[in-house]
Amino acid sequence: MVDLSVTLSGVKLDNPIIPASGTFGFGYEFADWYDINVLGSISLKGTTKEPRFGNPTPRIAEIPSGLLNSVGLQNPGVDDVIEKEIPRLEKCFSKPLIANISGFSVEDYVYCAEKFDKVSQVGILEINISCPNVHGGGMSFGTSAKAAALVTSAVKKAVKKPVYIKLTPNVTDIAEIARAVEEAGADGISLINTPLGMRIDISRRKPILSNKTGGMSGPCVLPLALRMVFQAYEAVKIPIIGMGGISSANDVIEMMLAGASAVQVGAANLVDPCACRNIIEELPASCEKYGIKKISEITGGAHNG
Ligand code: FUM
Repeated sequence: MVDLSVTLSGVKLDNPIIPASGTFGFGYEFADWYDINVLGSISLKGTTKEPRFGNPTPRIAEIPSGLLNSVGLQNPGVDDVIEKEIPRLEKCFSKPLIANISGFSVEDYVYCAEKFDKVSQVGILEINISCPNVHGGGMSFGTSAKAAALVTSAVKKAVKKPVYIKLTPNVTDIAEIARAVEEAGADGISLINTPLGMRIDISRRKPILSNKTGGMSGPCVLPLALRMVFQAYEAVKIPIIGMGGISSANDVIEMMLAGASAVQVGAANLVDPCACRNIIEELPASCEKYGIKKISEITGGAHNG
């Protein structure tokens, strides 16, 4: 039998499959489709200090082999997430959660991180410094090594739980940013968030998205994600959660060989709500095909040559 278990900074997961933030709501919505306890963990919808309505519509557009989104961090705010959403999820999911936090200032990140740090079912804090769809925050922290380090060290000082920093692909040198957050005390990193893209409505001669630009996700970004996870793995020693375009068990294996200790599955959940469950079911046979007995042992396996 294949051992699918992995460990992230002391948090043990039964398997490496985690639905990505923003593609799986607060998790309980998917319990009508399948028993979500098969998942390794869940990265919750990105949460901010105050409730947010998000960007005006249209905020989704199709692209070849994927989609473009500009949701703008719609969420009910940290207090509601802790008081209402997590208790709802706890009724159908009993494993450690990943709280995904966004902000517009260092203080915002610290405020939410301190609150989630006190929630017993939260195992890991994922600090999102990479949202491409808001102004004055989000990705602006993730495109500067100095700003990324500032957020990381401020959050680390304020909490006890492991802190993972979610990085943007919209940079020239991912190794520089990864090293900066590791040096600032991050326990791990997760990447990639979405690369910026655009579509134009030909008849209106205008961008389709009301925000003009959006983040690309889906199978079209898998090669980009693999390249960046591979480069980040060579730059840092802390664990990596790899994501970007994963939609099959073979994609999971590829991402782990690039350097990921666990993976997040995003856009695939929007195509098929059962995508994560299907990948978990396919994974043992795919591992057997490639002679993998313990999946955690393949992390970074493509760096041998
Ligand atoms: O627009 C959004 O809510 C996207 C968030 C993200 O990509 O981090």
